[in-house]
This record gives sequence, structure tokens and C-alpha cells, in this order.
Amino acid sequence: MAQPIPFQYPERIKLAQTPTPLEKMERLSDKFGVEIYFKRDDYTGTELSGNKVRKLEFILHHAVTLGADTVITCGGAQSNHCRATAFAAKRLGLKSVLLLRTPDPENPPPIEANILLDRLAGATIIWITPEQYQQRDQYFAWQAEQLVAAGGCPYIIPEGGSTALGSWGYVAAVDELVKDVAALGQADTIPTTVISAVGSGGTTAGLVMGNSLLGSDFRLVGVNVCDDKDYFQNVIGRILNDFQDRYLDQQVVTKADIEILDGYVGRGYALSQPQELEAIRDLARLEGVVLDPVYTGKAYYAMISELEKNPECFGPRIIFVHTGGLFGLFPIAEQVAELF
Ligand SMILES: Cc1ncc(COP(=O)(O)O)c(C=O)c1O
Repeated sequence: MAQPIPFQYPERIKLAQTPTPLEKMERLSDKFGVEIYFKRDDYTGTELSGNKVRKLEFILHHAVTLGADTVITCGGAQSNHCRATAFAAKRLGLKSVLLLRTPDPENPPPIEANILLDRLAGATIIWITPEQYQQRDQYFAWQAEQLVAAGGCPYIIPEGGSTALGSWGYVAAVDELVKDVAALGQADTIPTTVISAVGSGGTTAGLVMGNSLLGSDFRLVGVNVCDDKDYFQNVIGRILNDFQDRYLDQQVVTKADIEILDGYVGRGYALSQPQELEAIRDLARLEGVVLDPVYTGKAYYAMISELEKNPECFGPRIIFVHTGGLFGLFPIAEQVAELF
């Protein structure tokens, strides 16, 4: 193991069901001839299921410390982050305002899946176009101004909770992974590759940071589900720089520590190709595990496609981080049903 670097976690509020289990996928491992484990971050909760709640533990602690009564955040129409935020806010007695992206705000998408849950949690939803979403900071500011004028105390959470503070959630996840791997035995002898989906970058930033702080020597591979490698190296690089400025007195990672596996965006963000859905179906039938079509399904499809080309490409042991998102399957039920 590399030398760990001393650090102290910021304060957090316990929201996630952690530590999550590390489960071996026996049949998948046999198929490719390498050890494949899933880190079950889809088990972090039901309403709070997935990776976002790990970030929210730190972010919402900060919000509460500042006396916030409302959180404002943003995402795609079926954002897992927004759904998790709406419910986590309620656990703390806060209100939420969600800026959700949709092509035609006059005709928003049906109330189903994550949107249904957002509404159930009483979130205020404001529909904005993709063009307006580009200017989301301005929309955040307007919403915040209105809430302040009405005597409220808003707290803004940027897209995906992907800030330096939110990234601590995945530093904590690396802490768990180190213990998970130690419990398998031979901890230091088997090189381990950790694979996860990249959507707004905070999860990968936290994994990279945690790997360095804890001296864990994992190879980390992020699969981008939108945009491209350059875009995410810049986005994640900025989060890492901010993290180091705020919390460390030294630079321990650089952009060079961010490995992005590009080439699996397919038809685009939240758009599925038949082969990705087939991979989701086949895994459900092989291992009894359900992935989502927007993030984990694409990252998993990338992983098995690379393994099919070269079973040794990730080394002898892989940990795939299942970051949740199950509700994302329901809006595309008809497309999935074509496979049956
Ligand atoms: C289910 C799921 N997995 C992975 C990701 C990607 O995480 P991040 O936004 O931190 O890159 C997201 C959100 O974007 C998500 O909702």
C-alpha cells in the first residue's frame, strides 16, 4: 500500500445505510475468468438509494449548520440526485426546490419514477429548457432571491452534489472499500480495479481523492455516460483542485490520476441502445442484480465489452460500484419490454 496521508473528515449527518456490502458476482466472475465484485451502493437506502446520499451527508450537514430551511438543486427530468435530495431534505425537516431539465417546460414529462417520488416528497419542481439549464447558476440565484425575499434561508446544491464537500462521501466509500478488500484476505497482493459511472464527476473525484488519502492503490476507471474524456478530466480536475485548496495543505492528486474510459456514451445521455439493455437483462438473469439504464447500465456494458475484447484488461480483481438509479428503468419500460 502507498503511504496514507493524514486528514480529517468534515462533519456529516448520517443518512445513508452504510457500510454497503461488497458482493462477489460468482457466475460473472466464472464467465470472464477474473474476480468481479459489486459494491452495493444501490443499498444505501430506498428513497435515498444510490451514490448521491453519500455526498448529501456532508452537504446537508453544512446546509443545516447555516440555518437553511430550503435546498435548491438541479438535474435532468429523472434525476436521481434530485429525488435523493428531496427525500433527504424531508428527513431533516427542510423543503426542496428542483430545477429539472426538459425540452418543453410547457409539456413536462409524465409524473412517473423519480418525478413521482419528487412530487410525493413535496418538492417544488421548476421545469427549465436545456438552454436555460446552461445558465442554471442564474436560475439558482433567482430562486434563492425569491426565497430570501419571502423570509426563507435557501441553500444551493450544485448539479449532482458534485462539489469538493460532496466528494467526501466517496472518500468515505474508499475507506469502506479498503476494509472490504482486507476482509477478502490477500489485500495487498491482488491488484484491484474499481469501475464506476461518471455523470457529474463528484463520485470519481471522491474516489480519486480517497485512493490517494488512504494510500489504497486501487486502479480507478470512470466510465462517462455523457460528454467525453476531456470534458470530465477538466470537471473532475476542478473539483479535486478545489478539494485540495479547501481541505489539504498540499497537492496530492492531479488530472493525471483521473482515468476515464470513453466511447460508451452510445446514443447520448439517458438514451439507451439495445445492447446496453440486453446487458442489464442478462445480468438480472445471471446474478439477480438490477442496473439502471442511464448510469450503471452503461458503465457495466463498457466493462463487459472491454472484458470481452481482453479479459485481462482490468487485472485479476474488479470492483464495480453499483451507484443505484433503479427508478430510471421505469420511464423506458416499453423499450425494455421489447427484449422479452
Ligand atoms: C445512479 C447514478 N450513478 C452514477 C452517477 C454518476 O455520479 P456523479 O454524478 O457523481 O458522477 C449518478 C449521477 O449522476 C447516478 O444517478
